[in-house]
Amino acid sequence: MTLCFATNNANKLREIAAMLGERFELKTLQGIGCFEEIPETRNTIAGNSHQKAEHVWTHYGVDCFADDTGLEVDALDGAPGVDSAFYAGMPRSYERNVALLLNNLKGRPDRRARFRTVITLVIGGEYTAFEGVVEGHILSEPRGVEGFGYDPVFQPEGYDRTFAEMSMEEKAAISHRGRAFEKLVAFLKSRQDQY
Ligand code: IMP
Repeated sequence: MTLCFATNNANKLREIAAMLGERFELKTLQGIGCFEEIPETRNTIAGNSHQKAEHVWTHYGVDCFADDTGLEVDALDGAPGVDSAFYAGMPRSYERNVALLLNNLKGRPDRRARFRTVITLVIGGEYTAFEGVVEGHILSEPRGVEGFGYDPVFQPEGYDRTFAEMSMEEKAAISHRGRAFEKLVAFLKSRQDQY
């Protein structure tokens, strides 16, 4: 079956395509002719993920899934959360976001944080959500050059390296997005005879 992944991020697409196998033909937003910016105006990660999937389904009538991710820091009452992409304002800058985060956490002993991803799948107008979470904490200085976003300051629980010090495969095996993708893949495979 053909499924749209509501993203234009080639890395994410490659990762999920490898997990899904040949039974599913994956298309990007551009692949279905969707070139507009999809609104992300809800105030939760789950809400934004649903909004993106709903946009594709209602405007293009294509089965699809959409993901949304946020970093939740306990000492900041869950911030940056749904604002993770634009924490330090426009234009989006990973460096400025990380700098602001470290500044806001200066002198705070509680460094607990988690990444949360919600994927919303819509097939024939029926919606299902899958969540992936990874617990960890925020370091006081960036470490590592791999990955993106907050990876250099996020150290997952049980590891002595940040996400930015791990290979893509290593990170995907334990990450928020990897876990949510695994649930999505298991769901699709369990139903693939129906599609
Ligand atoms: P998105 O919903 O995947 O676009 O993620 C929103 C924002 O969260 C991104 O702009 C990044 O700042 C941050 N983010 C998402 N996933 C990751 C990750 O795996 N590592 C580090 N930061 C991430």
